[in-house]
Amino acid sequence: MKKTILFLAALAVSVAAALAQNAAPAGNAENGKKLWVKNNCYSCHGYEGHGGSVGPKLAPKPISMVAFMAIVRHPPQSTMPTFTARVISDSDLRDMWAYLNAIPAAPAYKDVPLLNAIQ
Ligand code: HEC
Repeated sequence: MKKTILFLAALAVSVAAALAQNAAPAGNAENGKKLWVKNNCYSCHGYEGHGGSVGPKLAPKPISMVAFMAIVRHPPQSTMPTFTARVISDSDLRDMWAYLNAIPAAPAYKDVPLLNAIQ
């Protein structure tokens, strides 16, 4: 019984921590842009997270910050390397996520005059 209560308490604490992380300040997108290049993410995912020959597209509209951080720490079995907290801190990851999140969506083709020139 005591163990169950301890387990439930630990679970509550970790859920609260995850929620707090979700509500944490969004991070510094400008710094995130530098870190994105410095940490070599661009080489597979493109300079603006638009996807490359190896890595999938991550922006605009990246997955949630919590999911983003979880995948960078434990990527699925693929060519994506694992980046531990020793290599990239949580705070740096939040900044990189903020950078991806700040990337605007491409305009709809109908709003690009050149794409509507021949009609
Ligand atoms: C050597 C190439 C490579 C590098 C470098 C790399 N990735 Fe990836 N990444 C991948 C591949 C390949 C996948 C797809 C994994 C899969 O689902 O099989 C991926 C998947 C991801 C995903 C999950 C995408 C999704 O929607 O499922 C995130 C987030 C991500 N990478 C972030 C990063 C970040 C941040 C960095 C830099 C710290 C980085 N990656 C560096 C190759 C790379």
